[in-house]
Amino acid sequence: MAGTGKATAALRLGVNIDHVATLRNARGGAHPDPVRAALLAQEAGADGITAHLREDRRHIRDDDIARLMAALRVPLNFEMAATPEMQAIALKHRPHAVCLVPERREERTTEGGLEVAADAERLRDFIAPLAEAGARVSLFVAPEEPQIEAAAEIGAAVVELHTGSYCDLHAAGRDAARDAELRRLYTAAVLAQQLGLEVHAGHGLGFDTVGPIAAMPEVVELNIGHFLMGEAVLVGLGPAIAEMRRQMQAARA
Ligand code: PXP
Repeated sequence: MAGTGKATAALRLGVNIDHVATLRNARGGAHPDPVRAALLAQEAGADGITAHLREDRRHIRDDDIARLMAALRVPLNFEMAATPEMQAIALKHRPHAVCLVPERREERTTEGGLEVAADAERLRDFIAPLAEAGARVSLFVAPEEPQIEAAAEIGAAVVELHTGSYCDLHAAGRDAARDAELRRLYTAAVLAQQLGLEVHAGHGLGFDTVGPIAAMPEVVELNIGHFLMGEAVLVGLGPAIAEMRRQMQAARA
């Protein structure tokens, strides 16, 4: 992707620990503890930790958020749906960042981006108290111009661009469509930065897809979970994070 000629900002890695909780909950006990995984990720060089408290509590639970807030030195990015229940939890804990995502009970993972343009008035009112409480409010959006313009318009600080389609197209071997999706992501990143939004990206990223996203100078943070946790089972969390950072850095350079 073409550079802007400006100095490229450092690229942060946010590690999503949801699936440590998925594994814990499979047996109903306390092991493996997602907070311990978060501390190991912090030790291994994660710049932040992301946790998604879903409405059905299928992985992260309320108590995990409280324990993460107490234990972490790096910022917590609290992912949540834009519901009154989640807003109250965010206002209670006051995490560094709040990332609003669409949520449907029947989905396996977060599908699609937030409908910001169609729900602008409600979201404007929803994010105001979160921003007042000091959270950096991020909206998880598809790389579409109307969503990004609406995010800037309602006062979000950050957009996180949904890289799921790009990763799915890559996995399906649909290279031309994948490259078109990459161009859409890049155009969206440039627009978001021009509108004064900080640009993050994530969903589905792994070693074979991270490079082109990390190479976009407008993108300053990647949030990665499932792939890193899968890799951690095979090689350990520290080595998995170190290799991801290495690949991010190599693409950035
Ligand atoms: N960013 C957001 C907003 C997400 O909802 C998720 C998944 O919870 C991720 C990043 C991480 O996606 P993955 O687990 O596929 O790396």
